[in-house]
Amino acid sequence: MATRSGNRSSSSSSRGSNRSNRSSGERSAFSWGESGALVGAAIAGAAIAVAANLGRKAAMQGMSAMAGDWDEVLAAEHDATLLVFDKLLATDETQTFKRTMLVKKLTHALDKHAHEEEHVVYPALRDANEAHDADVLEAEHGYVKTFLYDLNEMDKASPEFLPKVREFRQMIEAHARMEEEQVFPRFKQALTEAQNARITTLVNKEGFKMA
Ligand SMILES: [Fe+2]
Ligand SMILES: [Fe+2]
Repeated sequence: MATRSGNRSSSSSSRGSNRSNRSSGERSAFSWGESGALVGAAIAGAAIAVAANLGRKAAMQGMSAMAGDWDEVLAAEHDATLLVFDKLLATDETQTFKRTMLVKKLTHALDKHAHEEEHVVYPALRDANEAHDADVLEAEHGYVKTFLYDLNEMDKASPEFLPKVREFRQMIEAHARMEEEQVFPRFKQALTEAQNARITTLVNKEGFKMA
């Protein structure tokens, strides 16, 4: 009994001494001086990351803005989106990683595009008594999100993947054609130069937020 107690006491004291050594080591590794330097480095890193992100956004939206007026910006985005669909349609069921990356790219491009249209162009259409077209187009954006949801959730090796992409591409192409050939030209014709320039500025501003 006495021996067991002695052993326990000795082993406990040896654990205690290890713990105390370890904890004094930890204190020196995370002293105030060093942690201040770590925080400083983290802040500098975050500032660089913010600046890099702003640069990336400016470059991305700059490319769209170079397309010209708001309707040309949106048409250029339609074309770029259809190219992503074509890349997806060229994949096979073994390229699941590539499919995942392309679906992410498609999701980002369509989210940004929908944001520009839903926050600027469709509200301006409604104000110009084109509410019916704006409502039809915005309802279709709901189905765009449904296709994106399905493709993101779907097994990328599934035999149903490519038929779903093909169906989605057809829907996007018809939607883009309605905008480019009917709704946008008719609306643009009725705009003054100043109104047209204002809509271009706003589309680029909303695009920058989502870039
Ligand atoms: Fe649209
Ligand atoms: Fe569009």
